[in-house]
Amino acid sequence: MEAEERSSQASALIDARGLTRRFGDFVAVDGIDVTVGPGEVFGLLGANGAGKTTAIRMLCGTLAPTAGSIMVAGQDMARHARRARGQIGYVAQRFALYGDLTVRENLRLQAGLYGLAGGRSRERIQWALTHLALADVAERMAGMLPLGYQRRLALAAALLHEPKVLFLDEPTSGVDPMARQQFWELIYGLADSGIAILVTTHYMNEALFCDRIALMDAGRIVVEDDPAALAHRSLSTPILSLKSEGGGTLVQELRQWPEVLEMIPSAGQLRIRLRGGCDATALASRIRGLADESGVAPLKLEQVDPEFEDVVVAILEASQQERSA
Ligand SMILES: Nc1ncnc2c1ncn2[C@@H]1O[C@H](COP(=O)(O)OP(=O)(O)O)[C@@H](O)[C@H]1O
Ligand SMILES: [Mg+2]
Repeated sequence: MEAEERSSQASALIDARGLTRRFGDFVAVDGIDVTVGPGEVFGLLGANGAGKTTAIRMLCGTLAPTAGSIMVAGQDMARHARRARGQIGYVAQRFALYGDLTVRENLRLQAGLYGLAGGRSRERIQWALTHLALADVAERMAGMLPLGYQRRLALAAALLHEPKVLFLDEPTSGVDPMARQQFWELIYGLADSGIAILVTTHYMNEALFCDRIALMDAGRIVVEDDPAALAHRSLSTPILSLKSEGGGTLVQELRQWPEVLEMIPSAGQLRIRLRGGCDATALASRIRGLADESGVAPLKLEQVDPEFEDVVVAILEASQQERSA
């Protein structure tokens, strides 16, 4: 083992190796390694069914792994699950609040479950109400609040015992863009205080908010990188941007072409994702020829730089092809 790797493991707050979970014959999580250091925001990305929630549940100690090891905040989950859990804050994908209790009552209940009492409990609840901008709604019924508030309350509850490690499973799902932005700012603030944060999302653009991301597909991590570096990977997946007036039949024709992976309408243009390795220039001139034949003009057609999501799609496509090969 490299010296550098050893030291990063020593300081990591989450360190899982070969994490695997089977349900019968089905492998939901297939031998993944996850390392997250203090102050780091680690994003686990992937489509629905990729295995993100199953991975998180194992890392939190609520689901036993079929194989692999998990260390959280220096505690071995297999041997000292209680001690490990004491260092963990977890907001589940379908988190549960008591809708008919007030925000403050929910926090009191949770503080009690963590074994916080008296002045300490009051102090932490006050911190949570202030820090998560819930003070104004402290006496309101949790169930009557908008989803964005409910998510902040769930996060507040997960932070009462001052965990060193925070797991957030799709924390921004269903929340409007403005509230999402605020949520990410909260997450940064928590990371700045030294907490290790593992967050899952299926919103690809949110990956750019993470310090490091791992892309999951069918239970495996297919790529792990700094998101900016990932966005600039040159991939052999060309993108064409097409603008045409009344080119409906042209578009239908293009859909049949084997080189065309996907067509995504975006801001009055059509983004055409081509299959990896195909010649975009040759394809563009074939499209122009076809447009001329069917009398569609004027037509703007150009190759454009891939966006982050294009890169992710290309990586997933390559992974899926490898799997079916
Ligand atoms: N308790 C379970 N029993 C059987 N299959 C499960 C169970 N939990 C999850 N799975 C399956 O494991 C796969 C991964 O699920 P999940 O971890 O929830 O994915 P994600 O969170 O990425 O959407 C899915 O195919 C799901 O149906
Ligand atoms: Mg999930």
